[in-house]
Amino acid sequence: MEHLILDSNTWLLVLTGAGVSAESGVPTFRGMDGLWENHPIEDVASPQGFVKDPTLVWRFYSQRRAGAAAVHPNPGHDALVAWERHLGDRFLLATQNVDGLHRRAGSQRVVEMHGNLFKTRCSKCKRPPFDDTTVYPNGTVPTCDACGGRLRPHIVWFGEYLDPDDMSRIEDFALRGSTSGGRFVFLAAGTSGVVYPAAGIVDRVREAGGETWLVNLDPAENSTRFEYSVTGKSGEVLPKLAKLA
Ligand code: OAD
Repeated sequence: MEHLILDSNTWLLVLTGAGVSAESGVPTFRGMDGLWENHPIEDVASPQGFVKDPTLVWRFYSQRRAGAAAVHPNPGHDALVAWERHLGDRFLLATQNVDGLHRRAGSQRVVEMHGNLFKTRCSKCKRPPFDDTTVYPNGTVPTCDACGGRLRPHIVWFGEYLDPDDMSRIEDFALRGSTSGGRFVFLAAGTSGVVYPAAGIVDRVREAGGETWLVNLDPAENSTRFEYSVTGKSGEVLPKLAKLA
């Protein structure tokens, strides 16, 4: 296996997906075959689904909250914490995962592109998202203290836009890294490369002259666009992949 050298010249942008949490026991999206308890995933993870059946949506997210609260970060998460400690501000982690495991492992420079399971916001008023670990009892749809509107999970659903501030943070980091005069590296781990804009980051990094790495259990949709590809479980590969210099 080739080693990823992380030295004082290196800037590293990491993108993670559901595969990184798989060894913690969180099911991947594609692993669920697009279904949850026989409901198409779009019915429980879209604005239309929420309007149609908010009780079902809260049942799904309450179950996911309970599931994520019961698991622990794995050695893949821990490896990324060690890389960040070594690189400091020359490291950024963009994750598509909403389970919060990266922060629980100790990662600090994290952009949660798809939101966070343990945050809630109002679907009606501008009240900022707030921490919420509540597992709501079956049949409950919580309401906003401020306006009485329906509360919803702070998750980017199908058909919704990513937070432009999150995207700017990733783009600014990539720009600083690729114009730093140092070496800019992008590494994607545990992601199927199907969902944009995350799946397109590899192309932009290559255009900017960056080095690209993929760590995935199965070939990803965008595998051939990476320069280096390591097949395996992220919890096994990541702890051995980097040489901190
Ligand atoms: P997917 O479920 O699409 O893909 C997970 C990838 O991880 C697959 O390619 C697996 O081969 C790989 N994998 C599984 N176990 C692994 C392991 N132990 N180590 C390494 N790789 C492993 O998940 P994502 O790519 O994260 O978006 O999905 C992207 C987005 O699709 C999600 O964030 C979600 C969904 O639409 C939103 O909810 C907005």
